[in-house]
Amino acid sequence: MDYLLLIDRTHAIPTDFTPELDNVGSIQLEKNAARACRSMLKAAENSGILIKLLSGYRSREYQRELFRRSVCENIALGMTAAEANAVTARYLAAPGHSEHESGLAADFCTPSADDTEDDFGSTHEGKWLAANSPRYGFILRYPRMKEHITGIAYEPWHFRYTGLPHSLIMAQNGITLEEYLYYYFDIGCGTTYSPRFA
Ligand code: DAL
Ligand code: ZN
Repeated sequence: MDYLLLIDRTHAIPTDFTPELDNVGSIQLEKNAARACRSMLKAAENSGILIKLLSGYRSREYQRELFRRSVCENIALGMTAAEANAVTARYLAAPGHSEHESGLAADFCTPSADDTEDDFGSTHEGKWLAANSPRYGFILRYPRMKEHITGIAYEPWHFRYTGLPHSLIMAQNGITLEEYLYYYFDIGCGTTYSPRFA
């Protein structure tokens, strides 16, 4: 399993990628991501912070449905189809390009919420995750001011499992997965790589 697999606007999930899934409560994640997530949520709980796992693995069909629904909602708000697509694509990856389809992405929220929260980054739960998740192999995947690199707007709720030590190096250097792959592995867009830590 390549935990540094780049999945973004220009990198689709390989067609033969079939993660082994495991449950965290009622949500599925890739098995090592699930194990790390359980440890992380337990550590948060031990610090008096309850964090809810809202979303993990999604099928391609479900991602397609989420994307379609968001485009329709934006059209209903008065946007043209092109505008609705563009706005949706800032927050939702196109089917085949979502980290959620790999089982390596997890969305979190506060315990009483039942959807993502725009202000999650300023809650105790969001701050705890941003500060501590790298120790468990997770990164805040779509930070502020990095949309020009990740292609996705700031999402304080979306964390990606990359495993250690990668998550710590990215967090300590304030860099995204794209930057990490580029700086540390000499990866340009569309090229393959051989992780040095594997
Ligand atoms: N919200 C993230 C980008 C996704 O749809 O995978
Ligand atoms: Zn997400």
